[in-house]
Amino acid sequence: MKTVIILIFCFAILVLVRCQSRKKVDYELPEAMLPHVKTFFTGQCDKGKILYDLNCAGCHNTRVKGKQIIPDFNPEQLTGYTLRVQNAQHEKNMPDTLVTEEELGIIMTFLVYKKKNSVK
Ligand code: HEC
Repeated sequence: MKTVIILIFCFAILVLVRCQSRKKVDYELPEAMLPHVKTFFTGQCDKGKILYDLNCAGCHNTRVKGKQIIPDFNPEQLTGYTLRVQNAQHEKNMPDTLVTEEELGIIMTFLVYKKKNSVK
C-alpha cells in the first residue's frame, strides 16, 4: 500500500515539474522575478499568445517546414509600436475596436517575453 502512495506522489511531482518546465521553454522571464510575479506574467503571456494568433499572426508569422514562426521583434520595435499603432496606416487593419489598448499591451508582454527563435 505504501509503495502505491509513493508511486502516486512521484507521478504527481513529475506532472508538476513537466508543466513548469514547459512554461519556461515558451517564455523567458527574468531570473530575478518573484514567483508570484512570474505566475502573473506567464498568465499574461498565455493570453497574449492567443490575442497575437488572432490579430497579428496572419501578417507577421512565417512558415518554416510547416511550422509557424513568430518573429523576434527587438525592444525598440516593441516600444515604438504602441505609439505607432495609433497614427500609422497599419492601424487601418487593427482599429481600437478590434484590438483594444489593453489587449495590445498584453500582446506586447507576450512578444517581449516569448522565447527567441534564435536561441533554440
Ligand atoms: C494587415 C497586416 C498586419 C497586421 C494584422 C499586423 N501587422 Fe504589424 N506590421 C505589418 C507590416 C506590413 C509591418 C511593417 C511596417 C513597417 O515596418 O513600416 C508591421 C510592423 C510591425 C512591427 C514593427 C514596428 C516597427 O516600428 O518597426 C511590430 C512590432 C508589429 N508590426 C506588431 C504587430 C502586432 C503586435 C500586431 C497585432 C496586434 C500586428 N503587428 C498586426 C502588418 C501587419
